[in-house]
Amino acid sequence: MIWWNVANAQSFMPTEGTKIASQVDNLYGFLLISSTIGCAILIGGMIYFVWKYKRKTNSDKTAYISHNTMLEFLWSFIPLVIFLGVFGWGWIIYHDMRAMPKNALEIHVYGKQWAWEMEYKSGVKTSNLIVVPVNTDVKLILTAVDVIHSFYVPSFRIKQDAVPGRYTNLWFNANKLGEFHIFCTEFCGTQHSTMIGTLKVVTKEEYDAWLEEESKFELLPLAERGRKLFQLKACASCHNIVDAKSTATAPSLYGKFGATEQLADGSQVPVDENYLRESILNPNAKIVKGYNPNVMPSFQGQLSEVELGALVEFIKSLKN
Ligand code: CUA
Repeated sequence: MIWWNVANAQSFMPTEGTKIASQVDNLYGFLLISSTIGCAILIGGMIYFVWKYKRKTNSDKTAYISHNTMLEFLWSFIPLVIFLGVFGWGWIIYHDMRAMPKNALEIHVYGKQWAWEMEYKSGVKTSNLIVVPVNTDVKLILTAVDVIHSFYVPSFRIKQDAVPGRYTNLWFNANKLGEFHIFCTEFCGTQHSTMIGTLKVVTKEEYDAWLEEESKFELLPLAERGRKLFQLKACASCHNIVDAKSTATAPSLYGKFGATEQLADGSQVPVDENYLRESILNPNAKIVKGYNPNVMPSFQGQLSEVELGALVEFIKSLKN
């Protein structure tokens, strides 16, 4: 934290959640202030000269000045030193940012339309949520399942493309407890703007307890597993599960099982296990009246039979 670091003000920039975030802000603060001073000298000097050397009478003659070696040397050399300094400074921070730490906590991150899915090495999966212990090196191994996404944590000042067909990396060491935004910063389709997640920095003890709790997933009853999957696959971002009358971008699932669905083509279909299964795997097969096709992504190949069963049982349980 240096005195000229105006970019550090809370109302101005997101919280600095890592050491690198502070370093990036210091560099940007320097650029901002040196540019402002440079601009003031240039524009101020120009305005002063316009006033001072304005022709005052018709017989005024312009003095003949060919050049000034010292002046020209200084206005080239001083900026050169500043620019090289900024280059070296930036290179050092960028090098820190890109040199992956050894023995880091590694988490796989999958970008997909339109959610971030995480997988820990213990097998724990989350959606739009990363939980990490404070003051620990964390390495993210990113990829995408469909199109290019970009993983961005403003408070950490780090950003990396998630590209289909290859892995990219990102690392951080959070030094502040709290919740931070995760954004997708690559336009990836109609719901790009909803591709938002939370990065939670907790104490080591809280992290261990959380991981342990999450790893009990396989032992849960089927409908409870379905509830977790429903969150995990981000179904809840479109489907309401508590209000049957909700008219969001997707039909409400509350009290749906056993009812009859009106379809867009005028026909009717009973909501049974097979209808739910088909709607998860092939959402465009039957479009509910009043809703648009091609909104829901297909989950074909992304769910095991057990997972599908768990989701169906969860939807069946949504009634009073
Ligand atoms: Cu994913 Cu934008």
